[in-house]
Amino acid sequence: MKLYKKEGNILQIISFPTENAEKGDYLLVEDGYAGKALIAQVIDVQFAAVPGVLEELLRTLPDGGEPLQGEDIDPMEIAPHITYIQDASLLICKIRATLENDMLSPSSSWLPSRSQSTIKKLSTPLLIKLAKIEGKLPIILGGTKDSTLLTIDASSLDGTLNIITGKKGCGKSHLSKLLMVSLVGYKATVVIFDLNGEYGNLGVTNDGKRNLYYGKIHVFTPGQNFKVALEQLNLNTVMGILVNALHLPGTSAREFRRLWKSLKERGKLSMQELGEAIRDLNCNQHVRDALASRFHSFVNSGFFTDCLAEATLMDETLMKTKDAGGALVINLKNTSNVDRQIIVEYVLGKLVDSLQNWKLRAVFLFAEEAHLYLRETYWDDIVTRMRHYGIFTTFITNQPDTIQETIYRQADNIFLFNFTNEHDLDVVSRAARVDAETVHSIARDLPPHHCLALGRVVCDFPIVARVRALDIKTMGETRLFFKTVN
Ligand SMILES: Nc1ncnc2c1ncn2[C@@H]1O[C@H](COP(=O)(O)OP(=O)(O)OP(=O)(O)O)[C@@H](O)[C@H]1O
Ligand SMILES: [Mg+2]
Repeated sequence: MKLYKKEGNILQIISFPTENAEKGDYLLVEDGYAGKALIAQVIDVQFAAVPGVLEELLRTLPDGGEPLQGEDIDPMEIAPHITYIQDASLLICKIRATLENDMLSPSSSWLPSRSQSTIKKLSTPLLIKLAKIEGKLPIILGGTKDSTLLTIDASSLDGTLNIITGKKGCGKSHLSKLLMVSLVGYKATVVIFDLNGEYGNLGVTNDGKRNLYYGKIHVFTPGQNFKVALEQLNLNTVMGILVNALHLPGTSAREFRRLWKSLKERGKLSMQELGEAIRDLNCNQHVRDALASRFHSFVNSGFFTDCLAEATLMDETLMKTKDAGGALVINLKNTSNVDRQIIVEYVLGKLVDSLQNWKLRAVFLFAEEAHLYLRETYWDDIVTRMRHYGIFTTFITNQPDTIQETIYRQADNIFLFNFTNEHDLDVVSRAARVDAETVHSIARDLPPHHCLALGRVVCDFPIVARVRALDIKTMGETRLFFKTVN
Protein backbone atom coordinates (compact mmCIF):
# COMPACT_ATOMS: atom_id res chain seq x y z
CA MET A 1 0.00 0.00 0.00
CA LYS A 2 1.17 3.50 -0.79
CA LEU A 3 0.18 6.81 0.61
CA TYR A 4 -1.20 9.00 -2.11
CA LYS A 5 -2.99 12.02 -0.73
CA LYS A 6 -4.15 13.63 2.49
CA GLU A 7 -6.97 16.10 2.66
CA GLY A 8 -8.04 17.18 6.10
CA ASN A 9 -8.56 13.96 7.97
CA ILE A 10 -9.04 11.87 4.85
CA LEU A 11 -6.18 9.80 3.51
CA GLN A 12 -6.11 8.30 0.05
CA ILE A 13 -4.06 5.15 -0.17
CA ILE A 14 -3.25 3.09 -3.24
CA SER A 15 -3.73 -0.57 -2.58
CA PHE A 16 -2.59 -3.43 -4.80
CA PRO A 17 -4.82 -6.37 -5.63
CA THR A 18 -3.03 -8.78 -3.32
CA GLU A 19 -3.50 -6.55 -0.30
CA ASN A 20 -7.29 -6.76 -0.32
CA ALA A 21 -8.22 -4.10 2.16
CA GLU A 22 -11.95 -3.72 2.74
CA LYS A 23 -14.32 -1.14 4.09
CA GLY A 24 -14.15 -0.97 7.84
CA ASP A 25 -10.54 -2.23 8.08
CA TYR A 26 -8.04 -0.28 10.09
CA LEU A 27 -4.64 0.67 8.70
CA LEU A 28 -1.49 1.79 10.43
CA VAL A 29 0.50 4.37 8.50
CA GLU A 30 3.90 4.32 10.14
CA ASP A 31 6.45 7.00 9.58
CA GLY A 32 9.70 5.64 10.96
CA TYR A 33 11.48 9.00 10.82
CA ALA A 34 8.81 10.91 12.67
CA GLY A 35 8.40 8.05 15.13
CA LYS A 36 4.68 8.39 14.79
CA ALA A 37 1.90 6.54 13.09
CA LEU A 38 -1.58 7.35 11.91
CA ILE A 39 -4.46 5.02 12.55
CA ALA A 40 -6.93 5.29 9.69
CA GLN A 41 -10.07 3.40 8.82
CA VAL A 42 -11.00 2.45 5.29
CA ILE A 43 -14.40 3.96 4.61
CA ASP A 44 -14.52 3.45 0.87
CA VAL A 45 -12.75 1.42 -1.77
CA GLN A 46 -12.64 2.75 -5.33
CA PHE A 47 -10.85 1.87 -8.56
CA ALA A 48 -7.59 3.70 -8.83
CA ALA A 49 -8.63 5.14 -12.15
CA VAL A 50 -7.31 8.62 -11.60
CA PRO A 51 -4.48 9.36 -14.06
CA GLY A 52 -2.38 10.83 -11.29
CA VAL A 53 -2.72 7.63 -9.31
CA LEU A 54 -1.62 5.52 -12.25
CA GLU A 55 1.45 7.66 -12.76
CA GLU A 56 2.25 7.42 -9.11
CA LEU A 57 1.91 3.68 -9.25
CA LEU A 58 4.07 3.28 -12.32
CA ARG A 59 6.77 5.34 -10.72
CA THR A 60 6.77 3.34 -7.52
CA LEU A 61 6.16 -0.18 -8.75
CA PRO A 62 9.14 -2.41 -7.91
CA ASP A 63 10.32 -2.53 -11.52
CA GLY A 64 7.78 -0.38 -13.25
CA GLY A 65 10.01 2.68 -13.29
CA GLU A 66 13.05 1.01 -14.84
CA PRO A 67 13.63 1.71 -18.50
CA LEU A 68 13.30 -1.37 -20.61
CA GLN A 69 16.65 -2.42 -22.01
CA GLY A 70 17.72 -4.24 -25.13
CA GLU A 71 16.24 -4.12 -28.51
CA ASP A 72 13.64 -6.82 -28.18
CA ILE A 73 10.91 -5.02 -26.44
CA ASP A 74 8.23 -7.48 -25.73
CA PRO A 75 5.11 -5.53 -25.16
CA MET A 76 3.53 -8.49 -23.32
CA GLU A 77 5.98 -8.13 -20.48
CA ILE A 78 4.38 -5.00 -19.29
CA ALA A 79 0.93 -6.45 -19.56
CA PRO A 80 0.96 -7.94 -16.05
CA HIS A 81 1.86 -4.54 -14.70
CA ILE A 82 -0.94 -2.92 -16.56
CA THR A 83 -3.43 -5.41 -15.21
CA TYR A 84 -1.94 -4.92 -11.80
CA ILE A 85 -2.43 -1.21 -12.12
CA GLN A 86 -5.92 -1.62 -13.50
CA ASP A 87 -6.85 -3.67 -10.49
CA ALA A 88 -5.24 -1.38 -7.99
CA SER A 89 -7.69 0.30 -5.74
CA LEU A 90 -7.85 3.60 -4.03
CA LEU A 91 -8.70 3.39 -0.37
CA ILE A 92 -10.46 6.37 1.12
CA CYS A 93 -9.54 6.33 4.76
CA LYS A 94 -10.57 8.43 7.70
CA ILE A 95 -7.85 9.25 10.18
CA ARG A 96 -8.99 8.19 13.63
CA ALA A 97 -5.90 8.85 15.75
CA THR A 98 -2.19 9.38 15.94
CA LEU A 99 -0.07 6.79 17.69
CA GLU A 100 3.05 8.05 19.42
CA ASN A 101 4.97 6.15 22.07
CA ASP A 102 2.08 3.69 22.40
CA MET A 103 -0.23 6.56 23.26
CA LEU A 104 -3.20 7.53 21.14
CA SER A 105 -4.26 11.07 20.48
CA PRO A 106 -7.16 12.11 18.28
CA SER A 107 -5.08 14.54 16.22
CA SER A 108 -4.57 14.23 12.50
CA SER A 109 -2.61 17.40 11.98
CA TRP A 110 0.76 15.99 10.92
CA LEU A 111 1.70 14.67 7.53
CA PRO A 112 3.45 11.33 7.29
CA SER A 113 6.22 10.98 4.77
CA ARG A 114 4.96 9.75 1.46
CA SER A 115 8.15 8.00 0.49
CA GLN A 116 9.11 6.58 3.85
CA SER A 117 5.78 5.59 5.33
CA THR A 118 4.87 1.97 5.52
CA ILE A 119 1.26 1.00 5.58
CA LYS A 120 -0.06 -2.19 7.01
CA LYS A 121 -3.33 -3.50 8.30
CA LEU A 122 -4.00 -3.01 11.99
CA SER A 123 -5.54 -6.12 13.46
CA THR A 124 -8.63 -5.71 15.61
CA PRO A 125 -7.03 -7.24 18.74
CA LEU A 126 -4.19 -4.75 18.51
CA LEU A 127 -6.61 -1.88 17.95
CA ILE A 128 -8.69 -3.00 20.93
CA LYS A 129 -5.55 -3.11 23.02
CA LEU A 130 -4.24 0.27 21.88
CA ALA A 131 -7.59 1.99 22.31
CA LYS A 132 -8.21 0.21 25.63
CA ILE A 133 -11.70 -0.83 24.57
CA GLU A 134 -11.79 -3.83 26.87
CA GLY A 135 -12.34 -3.21 30.53
CA LYS A 136 -13.04 -4.94 33.79
CA LEU A 137 -16.65 -5.74 32.95
CA PRO A 138 -16.47 -7.41 29.54
CA ILE A 139 -19.48 -7.90 27.33
CA ILE A 140 -18.76 -10.01 24.27
CA LEU A 141 -20.61 -8.31 21.47
CA GLY A 142 -19.63 -10.65 18.68
CA GLY A 143 -16.93 -11.51 16.19
CA THR A 144 -15.12 -9.14 13.87
CA LYS A 145 -14.06 -9.89 10.32
CA ASP A 146 -10.60 -11.07 11.29
CA SER A 147 -12.14 -13.72 13.58
CA THR A 148 -11.51 -11.97 16.85
CA LEU A 149 -14.05 -11.09 19.44
CA LEU A 150 -15.23 -7.57 19.95
CA THR A 151 -15.57 -7.17 23.67
CA ILE A 152 -16.88 -3.94 25.11
CA ASP A 153 -16.89 -2.82 28.70
CA ALA A 154 -20.20 -2.67 30.56
CA SER A 155 -19.09 0.56 32.22
CA SER A 156 -19.06 2.24 28.82
CA LEU A 157 -22.85 1.85 28.90
CA ASP A 158 -23.03 3.33 32.38
CA GLY A 159 -24.50 6.82 32.53
CA THR A 160 -24.96 6.87 28.79
CA LEU A 161 -27.62 7.41 26.19
CA ASN A 162 -27.61 4.79 23.46
CA ILE A 163 -29.34 4.15 20.18
CA ILE A 164 -29.77 0.83 18.42
CA THR A 165 -31.09 1.33 14.93
CA GLY A 166 -31.26 -0.39 11.57
CA LYS A 167 -33.63 -1.84 9.03
CA LYS A 168 -36.44 -4.19 9.99
CA GLY A 169 -35.37 -7.65 11.02
CA CYS A 170 -31.64 -7.01 11.06
CA GLY A 171 -31.10 -7.94 14.70
CA LYS A 172 -31.71 -4.85 16.82
CA SER A 173 -33.85 -6.52 19.45
CA HIS A 174 -31.38 -9.38 19.51
CA LEU A 175 -28.56 -6.98 20.39
CA SER A 176 -30.63 -5.26 23.03
CA LYS A 177 -31.36 -8.67 24.58
CA LEU A 178 -27.64 -9.38 24.60
CA LEU A 179 -26.87 -6.07 26.29
CA MET A 180 -29.71 -6.53 28.77
CA VAL A 181 -28.72 -9.99 29.97
CA SER A 182 -25.08 -8.94 30.16
CA LEU A 183 -26.01 -5.96 32.33
CA VAL A 184 -28.22 -8.17 34.50
CA GLY A 185 -25.22 -10.52 34.78
CA TYR A 186 -23.33 -7.60 36.31
CA LYS A 187 -26.20 -7.08 38.76
CA ALA A 188 -27.70 -4.05 37.11
CA THR A 189 -31.37 -3.14 37.19
CA VAL A 190 -32.80 -3.13 33.69
CA VAL A 191 -36.27 -2.07 32.58
CA ILE A 192 -37.58 -2.69 29.09
CA PHE A 193 -40.67 -1.33 27.41
CA ASP A 194 -41.40 -4.43 25.38
CA LEU A 195 -43.71 -3.46 22.56
CA ASN A 196 -43.93 -6.87 20.89
CA GLY A 197 -43.85 -9.10 23.94
CA GLU A 198 -40.53 -10.64 22.92
CA TYR A 199 -38.39 -10.17 26.01
CA GLY A 200 -40.35 -12.35 28.41
CA ASN A 201 -38.30 -15.46 27.74
CA LEU A 202 -34.85 -14.09 28.42
CA GLY A 203 -34.59 -16.55 31.28
CA VAL A 204 -35.19 -19.61 29.10
CA THR A 205 -32.79 -21.30 26.66
CA ASN A 206 -33.66 -22.29 23.11
CA ASP A 207 -34.64 -25.79 24.19
CA GLY A 208 -36.83 -24.55 26.98
CA LYS A 209 -34.46 -25.01 29.93
CA ARG A 210 -33.90 -22.36 32.57
CA ASN A 211 -30.74 -20.33 32.18
CA LEU A 212 -28.63 -18.21 34.48
CA TYR A 213 -31.07 -15.34 34.37
CA TYR A 214 -34.23 -17.30 34.98
CA GLY A 215 -35.02 -15.89 38.42
CA LYS A 216 -34.01 -12.40 37.42
CA ILE A 217 -36.44 -11.73 34.61
CA HIS A 218 -39.67 -10.29 35.89
CA VAL A 219 -42.42 -9.90 33.33
CA PHE A 220 -45.16 -7.36 34.05
CA THR A 221 -48.21 -7.75 31.87
CA PRO A 222 -50.62 -4.87 32.49
CA GLY A 223 -54.12 -5.93 33.34
CA GLN A 224 -52.89 -9.44 34.23
CA ASN A 225 -50.08 -9.55 36.74
CA PHE A 226 -49.53 -5.83 36.67
CA LYS A 227 -52.20 -3.73 38.31
CA VAL A 228 -52.08 -0.86 40.73
CA ALA A 229 -54.40 0.30 43.47
CA LEU A 230 -55.08 4.00 43.74
CA GLU A 231 -53.84 3.88 47.33
CA GLN A 232 -50.38 2.95 46.07
CA LEU A 233 -50.19 5.93 43.81
CA ASN A 234 -48.96 9.31 44.79
CA LEU A 235 -50.77 12.34 43.50
CA ASN A 236 -47.91 13.44 41.25
CA THR A 237 -47.93 10.16 39.37
CA VAL A 238 -51.70 10.32 38.88
CA MET A 239 -51.47 13.91 37.72
CA GLY A 240 -48.72 12.89 35.34
CA ILE A 241 -50.94 10.22 33.84
CA LEU A 242 -53.95 12.53 33.60
CA VAL A 243 -52.17 15.52 32.15
CA ASN A 244 -49.58 13.83 29.96
CA ALA A 245 -51.15 10.58 28.86
CA LEU A 246 -54.78 11.62 28.92
CA HIS A 247 -54.37 15.34 28.18
CA LEU A 248 -56.56 16.62 30.99
CA PRO A 249 -56.88 20.43 30.76
CA GLY A 250 -55.65 22.68 33.55
CA THR A 251 -58.96 23.61 35.23
CA SER A 252 -60.11 20.01 35.40
CA ALA A 253 -56.69 18.98 36.68
CA ARG A 254 -57.02 21.43 39.56
CA GLU A 255 -60.48 20.06 40.36
CA PHE A 256 -59.13 16.52 40.29
CA ARG A 257 -56.30 17.42 42.64
CA ARG A 258 -58.84 18.75 45.15
CA LEU A 259 -61.00 15.68 44.77
CA TRP A 260 -58.09 13.31 45.26
CA LYS A 261 -56.93 15.08 48.40
CA SER A 262 -60.38 15.00 49.90
CA LEU A 263 -60.79 11.27 49.17
CA LYS A 264 -57.40 10.57 50.62
CA GLU A 265 -58.16 12.47 53.81
CA ARG A 266 -61.29 10.42 54.26
CA GLY A 267 -59.40 7.18 53.51
CA LYS A 268 -61.60 6.51 50.52
CA LEU A 269 -59.12 6.26 47.72
CA SER A 270 -60.56 3.60 45.47
CA MET A 271 -61.76 3.41 41.91
CA GLN A 272 -65.32 3.01 43.03
CA GLU A 273 -65.24 6.01 45.34
CA LEU A 274 -63.44 8.08 42.75
CA GLY A 275 -66.06 7.22 40.13
CA GLU A 276 -68.87 8.20 42.48
CA ALA A 277 -67.14 11.38 43.57
CA ILE A 278 -66.72 12.48 39.95
CA ARG A 279 -70.36 11.71 39.22
CA ASP A 280 -71.53 13.71 42.22
CA LEU A 281 -69.10 16.52 41.68
CA ASN A 282 -70.72 19.87 41.98
CA CYS A 283 -68.95 21.85 39.30
CA ASN A 284 -68.97 23.02 35.72
CA GLN A 285 -70.45 20.43 33.36
CA HIS A 286 -67.39 20.51 31.07
CA VAL A 287 -65.04 19.84 33.95
CA ARG A 288 -67.18 16.94 35.13
CA ASP A 289 -67.32 15.47 31.64
CA ALA A 290 -63.59 15.83 31.22
CA LEU A 291 -62.97 14.03 34.50
CA ALA A 292 -65.56 11.36 33.73
CA SER A 293 -63.99 10.54 30.38
CA ARG A 294 -60.53 10.19 31.99
CA PHE A 295 -62.03 8.01 34.68
CA HIS A 296 -63.42 5.76 31.94
CA SER A 297 -59.98 5.49 30.41
CA PHE A 298 -58.70 4.41 33.82
CA VAL A 299 -61.40 1.76 34.07
CA ASN A 300 -60.97 0.54 30.50
CA SER A 301 -57.25 0.16 30.84
CA GLY A 302 -57.82 -2.65 33.37
CA PHE A 303 -54.65 -1.41 35.00
CA PHE A 304 -56.25 -0.05 38.16
CA THR A 305 -57.79 -2.19 40.83
CA ASP A 306 -59.46 -1.77 44.19
CA CYS A 307 -58.33 -5.16 45.38
CA LEU A 308 -55.08 -4.69 47.25
CA ALA A 309 -54.25 -8.38 47.03
CA GLU A 310 -54.27 -8.05 43.26
CA ALA A 311 -52.09 -4.98 43.16
CA THR A 312 -48.52 -5.37 42.02
CA LEU A 313 -45.74 -4.19 44.23
CA MET A 314 -43.29 -3.01 41.66
CA ASP A 315 -41.17 -1.49 44.41
CA GLU A 316 -40.50 -4.92 45.84
CA THR A 317 -39.25 -6.24 42.51
CA LEU A 318 -37.12 -3.17 42.04
CA MET A 319 -35.62 -3.68 45.48
CA LYS A 320 -34.90 -7.30 44.65
CA THR A 321 -32.95 -6.24 41.60
CA LYS A 322 -30.98 -3.69 43.57
CA ASP A 323 -28.54 -6.23 44.97
CA ALA A 324 -28.86 -9.21 42.69
CA GLY A 325 -29.64 -7.42 39.44
CA GLY A 326 -32.62 -8.17 37.28
CA ALA A 327 -34.77 -7.12 34.40
CA LEU A 328 -38.31 -5.80 34.58
CA VAL A 329 -40.02 -6.53 31.30
CA ILE A 330 -43.03 -4.25 30.85
CA ASN A 331 -45.05 -6.17 28.32
CA LEU A 332 -46.87 -3.63 26.17
CA LYS A 333 -48.09 -6.15 23.63
CA ASN A 334 -51.85 -6.01 23.13
CA THR A 335 -52.20 -2.69 24.90
CA SER A 336 -53.92 0.23 23.26
CA ASN A 337 -52.17 3.49 22.59
CA VAL A 338 -53.75 5.24 25.57
CA ASP A 339 -53.13 2.36 27.96
CA ARG A 340 -49.53 2.19 26.86
CA GLN A 341 -49.04 5.83 27.73
CA ILE A 342 -50.70 5.39 31.11
CA ILE A 343 -48.44 2.45 31.92
CA VAL A 344 -45.26 4.13 30.71
CA GLU A 345 -46.10 7.26 32.68
CA TYR A 346 -46.65 5.12 35.77
CA VAL A 347 -43.44 3.11 35.36
CA LEU A 348 -41.27 6.16 34.70
CA GLY A 349 -42.84 7.96 37.66
CA LYS A 350 -42.09 4.94 39.82
CA LEU A 351 -38.49 4.75 38.64
CA VAL A 352 -37.85 8.43 39.24
CA ASP A 353 -39.39 8.01 42.70
CA SER A 354 -37.18 5.07 43.62
CA LEU A 355 -34.08 6.77 42.28
CA GLN A 356 -34.83 10.06 44.01
CA ASN A 357 -35.13 8.28 47.33
CA TRP A 358 -31.95 6.32 46.64
CA LYS A 359 -33.83 3.05 46.81
CA LEU A 360 -32.08 2.33 43.54
CA ARG A 361 -28.72 3.52 42.30
CA ALA A 362 -29.40 3.53 38.60
CA VAL A 363 -31.62 1.91 36.01
CA PHE A 364 -30.83 0.91 32.45
CA LEU A 365 -33.96 1.60 30.47
CA PHE A 366 -34.50 -0.02 27.07
CA ALA A 367 -37.25 1.47 24.96
CA GLU A 368 -38.42 -0.19 21.73
CA GLU A 369 -40.08 2.19 19.27
CA ALA A 370 -40.43 4.84 21.94
CA HIS A 371 -42.36 7.26 19.76
CA LEU A 372 -45.38 5.01 20.22
CA TYR A 373 -45.67 5.77 23.90
CA LEU A 374 -43.23 8.45 24.95
CA ARG A 375 -44.73 11.90 25.13
CA GLU A 376 -43.01 14.88 23.53
CA THR A 377 -41.55 16.40 26.66
CA TYR A 378 -40.09 13.13 27.93
CA TRP A 379 -37.42 13.11 25.24
CA ASP A 380 -35.73 16.16 26.67
CA ASP A 381 -36.36 14.86 30.15
CA ILE A 382 -34.54 11.67 29.35
CA VAL A 383 -31.41 13.42 28.19
CA THR A 384 -31.33 15.86 31.07
CA ARG A 385 -33.39 15.34 34.20
CA MET A 386 -33.82 11.57 34.13
CA ARG A 387 -30.20 11.01 33.26
CA HIS A 388 -29.20 12.86 36.39
CA TYR A 389 -31.48 10.71 38.48
CA GLY A 390 -29.78 7.66 37.00
CA ILE A 391 -32.04 6.50 34.19
CA PHE A 392 -29.76 5.52 31.32
CA THR A 393 -31.75 4.93 28.20
CA THR A 394 -31.22 2.85 25.09
CA PHE A 395 -33.61 3.59 22.23
CA ILE A 396 -34.28 0.82 19.74
CA THR A 397 -35.98 1.66 16.47
CA ASN A 398 -36.16 0.85 12.79
CA GLN A 399 -37.36 4.37 12.04
CA PRO A 400 -34.49 6.63 13.06
CA ASP A 401 -36.44 9.78 12.28
CA THR A 402 -38.86 9.04 15.10
CA ILE A 403 -36.11 9.70 17.62
CA GLN A 404 -35.74 13.34 18.42
CA GLU A 405 -32.74 15.26 17.30
CA THR A 406 -31.65 16.11 20.85
CA ILE A 407 -31.25 12.39 21.50
CA TYR A 408 -28.91 12.00 18.54
CA ARG A 409 -26.88 14.99 19.59
CA GLN A 410 -26.40 13.61 23.07
CA ALA A 411 -26.08 9.93 22.25
CA ASP A 412 -22.91 8.36 23.62
CA ASN A 413 -23.19 5.10 21.75
CA ILE A 414 -24.83 4.08 18.53
CA PHE A 415 -25.20 0.51 17.35
CA LEU A 416 -25.96 0.85 13.70
CA PHE A 417 -27.28 -2.02 11.60
CA ASN A 418 -27.90 -1.99 7.89
CA PHE A 419 -29.76 0.89 6.28
CA THR A 420 -29.99 1.49 2.57
CA ASN A 421 -32.21 4.50 2.68
CA GLU A 422 -30.20 7.72 2.43
CA HIS A 423 -32.70 9.64 4.51
CA ASP A 424 -32.36 7.20 7.41
CA LEU A 425 -28.59 7.43 7.22
CA ASP A 426 -28.74 11.23 7.17
CA VAL A 427 -30.74 11.18 10.37
CA VAL A 428 -28.25 8.91 12.13
CA SER A 429 -25.35 11.08 10.92
CA ARG A 430 -26.65 13.89 13.09
CA ALA A 431 -25.23 12.18 16.13
CA ALA A 432 -22.33 14.09 17.58
CA ARG A 433 -19.99 11.14 17.92
CA VAL A 434 -20.44 9.96 14.39
CA ASP A 435 -19.18 11.23 11.08
CA ALA A 436 -21.49 11.20 8.12
CA GLU A 437 -19.06 9.56 5.67
CA THR A 438 -18.49 6.56 7.92
CA VAL A 439 -22.17 6.08 8.55
CA HIS A 440 -23.16 6.39 4.91
CA SER A 441 -20.40 4.28 3.55
CA ILE A 442 -20.20 1.41 6.03
CA ALA A 443 -23.82 1.03 7.15
CA ARG A 444 -25.07 0.58 3.62
CA ASP A 445 -23.04 -2.59 3.14
CA LEU A 446 -23.61 -4.25 6.49
CA PRO A 447 -24.99 -7.80 6.19
CA PRO A 448 -27.82 -8.85 8.53
CA HIS A 449 -26.84 -9.37 12.18
CA HIS A 450 -23.76 -7.18 11.70
CA CYS A 451 -23.57 -3.89 13.48
CA LEU A 452 -21.30 -0.91 13.39
CA ALA A 453 -20.52 0.11 16.95
CA LEU A 454 -19.88 3.81 17.35
CA GLY A 455 -19.08 6.01 20.31
CA ARG A 456 -17.87 5.38 23.81
CA VAL A 457 -18.14 1.58 23.76
CA VAL A 458 -15.44 1.43 21.10
CA CYS A 459 -13.57 4.56 22.26
CA ASP A 460 -14.63 6.31 19.06
CA PHE A 461 -13.02 3.73 16.79
CA PRO A 462 -16.00 2.53 14.75
CA ILE A 463 -15.86 -1.26 14.57
CA VAL A 464 -18.06 -3.68 12.67
CA ALA A 465 -18.99 -6.92 14.43
CA ARG A 466 -21.28 -9.81 13.76
CA VAL A 467 -23.46 -9.89 16.85
CA ARG A 468 -23.09 -13.23 18.55
CA ALA A 469 -25.97 -15.66 18.83
CA LEU A 470 -27.71 -16.07 22.16
CA ASP A 471 -28.99 -19.24 23.71
CA ILE A 472 -32.23 -17.59 24.59
CA LYS A 473 -35.68 -18.48 23.49
CA THR A 474 -36.39 -15.71 21.04
CA MET A 475 -39.87 -14.55 20.31
CA GLY A 476 -39.14 -11.72 17.92
CA GLU A 477 -39.66 -13.62 14.69
CA THR A 478 -41.90 -12.00 12.18
CA ARG A 479 -45.09 -13.94 11.81
CA LEU A 480 -45.37 -15.38 8.33
CA PHE A 481 -47.99 -17.13 6.30
CA PHE A 482 -45.66 -18.87 3.87
CA LYS A 483 -43.10 -20.69 5.92
CA THR A 484 -40.23 -22.52 4.26
CA VAL A 485 -40.22 -26.12 5.38
CA ASN A 486 -36.71 -27.53 5.68
N1 LIG B 1 -26.72 -12.11 15.87
C1 LIG B 1 -27.71 -12.97 15.65
N2 LIG B 1 -27.48 -14.28 15.64
C2 LIG B 1 -28.47 -15.15 15.43
N3 LIG B 1 -29.75 -14.81 15.20
C3 LIG B 1 -30.05 -13.52 15.19
C4 LIG B 1 -29.05 -12.52 15.42
N4 LIG B 1 -29.63 -11.32 15.35
C5 LIG B 1 -30.93 -11.55 15.10
N5 LIG B 1 -31.19 -12.84 14.99
C6 LIG B 1 -32.50 -13.44 14.69
O1 LIG B 1 -33.04 -12.76 13.58
C7 LIG B 1 -34.41 -12.49 13.79
C8 LIG B 1 -34.68 -11.01 13.73
O2 LIG B 1 -33.95 -10.35 14.72
P1 LIG B 1 -34.55 -9.21 15.63
O3 LIG B 1 -35.91 -9.53 16.11
O4 LIG B 1 -33.54 -8.88 16.65
O5 LIG B 1 -34.62 -8.07 14.53
P2 LIG B 1 -35.12 -6.58 14.70
O6 LIG B 1 -34.11 -5.73 14.02
O7 LIG B 1 -35.41 -6.28 16.12
O8 LIG B 1 -36.44 -6.59 13.85
P3 LIG B 1 -37.71 -5.61 13.94
O9 LIG B 1 -37.32 -4.37 13.23
O10 LIG B 1 -38.76 -6.37 13.22
O11 LIG B 1 -37.99 -5.39 15.38
C9 LIG B 1 -34.76 -13.09 15.14
O12 LIG B 1 -35.35 -14.34 14.92
C10 LIG B 1 -33.43 -13.23 15.84
O13 LIG B 1 -33.43 -14.32 16.71
MG1 LIG C 1 -37.16 -5.82 17.08
